[in-house]
Amino acid sequence: MSRKTPIFLILLMLFSLVLAACVNGAEPTAPGDEPAPTTDEVAEVEGDGDAEELVEVSAPPPPVPNAEAASAYSGAQIRYYGDSVGLGAQIDDLLAEQFSADTGIQVTVIRKPQDATENYATYQRFFQARSGDVDVMMLDVIWPAAFAPHLVDLAPELGEAAQAHFETIVENNTVDGRLIAMPWFGDFGMLYYRTDLLEKYGFAGPPATWQELTEMAQTIQDGERNDGNAQFVGFVWQGAAYEGLTCNALEWVASNGGGRFIDGDQVTIMNPEAIATLELAQSWVGTISPQGVTGYREEDARQAFQGGNAAFMRNWPYAYAAGRQDDSPIRDVFAVAPLPSAEGQERVGTVGGWQLGVSAYSQNQEAAIEFVRYMTSPEVQTWRASVGSYVPTIVDISDDPAVLEAIPFLEQFQDVVRVTRPSSETGANYNEASTAIFQSVNRILLGGNVEQTLGQAEQRLQGLLIQ
Ligand code: GLC
Repeated sequence: MSRKTPIFLILLMLFSLVLAACVNGAEPTAPGDEPAPTTDEVAEVEGDGDAEELVEVSAPPPPVPNAEAASAYSGAQIRYYGDSVGLGAQIDDLLAEQFSADTGIQVTVIRKPQDATENYATYQRFFQARSGDVDVMMLDVIWPAAFAPHLVDLAPELGEAAQAHFETIVENNTVDGRLIAMPWFGDFGMLYYRTDLLEKYGFAGPPATWQELTEMAQTIQDGERNDGNAQFVGFVWQGAAYEGLTCNALEWVASNGGGRFIDGDQVTIMNPEAIATLELAQSWVGTISPQGVTGYREEDARQAFQGGNAAFMRNWPYAYAAGRQDDSPIRDVFAVAPLPSAEGQERVGTVGGWQLGVSAYSQNQEAAIEFVRYMTSPEVQTWRASVGSYVPTIVDISDDPAVLEAIPFLEQFQDVVRVTRPSSETGANYNEASTAIFQSVNRILLGGNVEQTLGQAEQRLQGLLIQ
């Protein structure tokens, strides 16, 4: 570099390098490695580019039921770390606008990282720095144990409202007697499929077993490629080395009778059923699934499926409303079903879901709590179910006929076994345990020896049990 290069250019180049490293998904850093990101950096780097996609809302967001109480904090400014996949970002914007208009509390919506593992690392940095830059945040169902010390106990303000939500979720969000987050929406893994293509290739319905799925996907893929769509693939899912792969792998293993990696106080990841199902998944890569599936997250799978280039997809409920949008090429030609299982085994779906919490380092906790009260209210949950297919966490709303019409799969999934990731067995070590799982499974997908790799995962997991 010439000695005359102005200092601001050098700074600009350094900044670009850092930015490129972030965009390329640099490995999550060890705790304490980095300063807390500023919210501007986060928004710029991690915004998902979907912002132009317009949500078709049949009705505007509901008015704020707690507007009167919340107006006491009018003029306060809060930062909310919100959704970034599917229609979630625009739905958040609309709700934040409504809240600001009704209460005078200004809400800045920041898109959280789409990748749950990266999102975890980002929050870790905020918390370690005791940063007041985030007031309200979305929290994954597997995080309460790890983040409880950094979150406000919402029980005094929202404990009563929490009683209307499913007890198991409230329990999950209660750590040492403190309600550290309010349930916001539920999630479970589902199989999306193309109704038109099943008909075209003479299949009477979606596959019940993984073997059937493998064969159907191959037939449809071969046919569509012959018909001129060279990009067409049979089955898309989440195969990147991150939290989503732990969810996919749990479904394969549990639906093959292989347990849930850790059962009780035993690490059970290594067993013949787990080995067999992982061998099958390995065989999908480069056959019915693209080679690149080993780098896929939720939105990569959704883009392939919603773009009309895949016969089957594993994803969460949010992809349902997104696929039904007017401009979606598959708007009227897809449906959902429980994920397949092995012959004679139960159909399962991994439990996911998100909560809203308030940072203990927030300077505006009262205003933040009022925002959470609104966002988790029955009114907002009903609205979000119908515009975004978000699964309500309030018991009565799950039975509401209008909600059941908007998300018909709720009834269809009543008998599906909801499998949970081993977060209660690993507590605050969960992220490390999941990392051991998804790194091993990703290695297997890339061609690694199944038994050997599971053996290594087994060892890593042994040291992470909390009992
Ligand atoms: C979904 C689930 C969440 C899970 C994540 C993995 O967002 O709700 O629980 O951890 O996907 O990618």
